[in-house]
Amino acid sequence: MKKKIISMLLVACMGLSLVACGGGNNKPASNEGSTTEEGSEATQPSDEGGSDESASNEGSDEGGSSDGVITVGFSQVGAESDWRTANSESMKSTFSEENGYKLIFDDAQQKQENQLTAIRNFINQEVDYIVLAPTTETGWDTVLQEAKDAGIPVIIVDRMVDVSDDTLYNCYVGGNFKLEGQKACEWLKAYADAKGIKELNIAHIQGNIGASAQIGRTEGLEEAAEKYGWNIVAQQSGEFTQAKGQEVMESMLKSNDNINVVYCENDNEAFGAIDAIKAAGKTVGPDGDILVMSFDTVKAGIEMTMAGDIICNTECNPLHGPRVEELIKKMEAGEEPEKIAYVDEGIFTYGDEVAKVTVDGQDYDVTKVTQEVIDGRMY
Ligand code: AHR
Repeated sequence: MKKKIISMLLVACMGLSLVACGGGNNKPASNEGSTTEEGSEATQPSDEGGSDESASNEGSDEGGSSDGVITVGFSQVGAESDWRTANSESMKSTFSEENGYKLIFDDAQQKQENQLTAIRNFINQEVDYIVLAPTTETGWDTVLQEAKDAGIPVIIVDRMVDVSDDTLYNCYVGGNFKLEGQKACEWLKAYADAKGIKELNIAHIQGNIGASAQIGRTEGLEEAAEKYGWNIVAQQSGEFTQAKGQEVMESMLKSNDNINVVYCENDNEAFGAIDAIKAAGKTVGPDGDILVMSFDTVKAGIEMTMAGDIICNTECNPLHGPRVEELIKKMEAGEEPEKIAYVDEGIFTYGDEVAKVTVDGQDYDVTKVTQEVIDGRMY
């Protein structure tokens, strides 16, 4: 309880200092509903946001700090991708009992309604910190106000929330998804120029609509297409999963015979898309019919980049556990963490035609994938 009072004071102080700084981002609210689970040992991430991965344990009364143990309630998006699995593992290994934490891990199975329920359970359990990886950007104002009223600090991780009052969360750490999309598209422009590819007919397989990772990567592509005169011949969500990526690619190939680029918004969609392309009798790669672009650079993704099946793969780093822990340590020490912290991320490619790209006047190096790069990949 003492920690609770300190937390409330910290949140109040942060609110005051943020008002003084005038920081903010705006927007409305949205949808969906529920599932919960507890205990770091209870969760087994499975396939594509399946329902069997949450051993439900709602409303347990075991939250709150005691004995110096810090209780963290983590509402995770789901288990839709290799990236997500690596992210969950990073959080679990960081917030372990040995490290002095009690982690209450909730897998929302890609449903915002489940996250709303999980956060309310965390509040009832009087956790010390709520960590939220949001499915979509909107729809959080009410529940985050409830957390704030309860005096529980909120850390947003991976994707961003879009709330009317940014004092509803304490800080954010994750990827800059718009920048990821811009970097990927600047690479594509330079590569097409280097190879003399005159016309780009792009199939665009999006992530879950409304998630920051989809919004940013889609904006990056749409703005580049407008600027460079590229054709986006098909656009549909692959829900960040391999199965859906394959299904969507199959249907896009049936209705478009001129696709020469597929822009997948994550590696798992790319895996599915490549299967569909090959099954349709077409080829991928630098000398093939279709260039496949992707995001994440998980181990399997970067291996496929070295093989050329994925021609360019822009990093989205999932190892957020230690980053979140650093934020918590700062708050425990009574310090105010940086409000928004973006992770540095690279661009990885099959070839070396493009050494760097420039976005908004800033240069970013491009790395040709080698075995050494693969061996050094942690996820
Ligand atoms: O929010 C990060 C994105 O979500 C990753 O690109 C994707 O693989 C995951 O599902």
